[in-house]
Amino acid sequence: MSGFFESSIMARAVQRQLVSYELVDIRDFANNKHNKCDDELYGGGPGMLMTPEPLASALDSVQAKGSRVVYMTPGGRLFNQQYARDLAAEEHLVILCGRYEGIDQRIIDTYVTDEISIGDYVLSSGEVAALTLVDAVYRLLPGVITGESLEEESFEDGLLEYPQYTRPAVYDTMQVPDVLLSGHHANIQAWRYKKRLEKTLLYRPDLLSGRGLDNELRKLIDELLVQRGEA
Ligand code: ADE
Repeated sequence: MSGFFESSIMARAVQRQLVSYELVDIRDFANNKHNKCDDELYGGGPGMLMTPEPLASALDSVQAKGSRVVYMTPGGRLFNQQYARDLAAEEHLVILCGRYEGIDQRIIDTYVTDEISIGDYVLSSGEVAALTLVDAVYRLLPGVITGESLEEESFEDGLLEYPQYTRPAVYDTMQVPDVLLSGHHANIQAWRYKKRLEKTLLYRPDLLSGRGLDNELRKLIDELLVQRGEA
């Protein structure tokens, strides 16, 4: 966990005081000599649950009440770029990571404002999920990376990113598309837009279905479907 905060872009953001963080080990708040923070489920069931008292003390130690408190769980709302932008607007975020089967519901009821899942799969600890969330959020904070790199990324306008190329112009007999070498800005933009649509249609058609399709977009999609023999 601490290794992530010492890695390049994050370490620079911390050094420039664009981000500050505190890592809290819930076990430090256990009220028994074995630092035990888990117990069996009432009503039966597999696995162990984190007990409420150490969690409450840990949360109180970071002034969680009155803050946005995110609990990482596969049972939460699905995280996405819009959610990352929303969290990036917060002054103070508390991120709670569970182990075992999860945490006592009364802690969720008392402290948690957002239950968030990073995807439809189960990780063995919420910490890995939390790092994903922190990474997606902190890079959106003003000054961490340039606005221009952010604007053209996947999801910023609901489409996946276009294919990108750098030197050499021919690599292992594969040529960079001519249009990118043409210097014709409008044609390059049109090509990139078409490639973004193509990729979105292939991998994430769900992103297109939520979008109002203007005539131009509908024409492009029809053209791509014809090319792929689906129309
Ligand atoms: N903890 C375990 N799996 C998770 C997931 N998919 N998202 C958030 N937290 C988790």
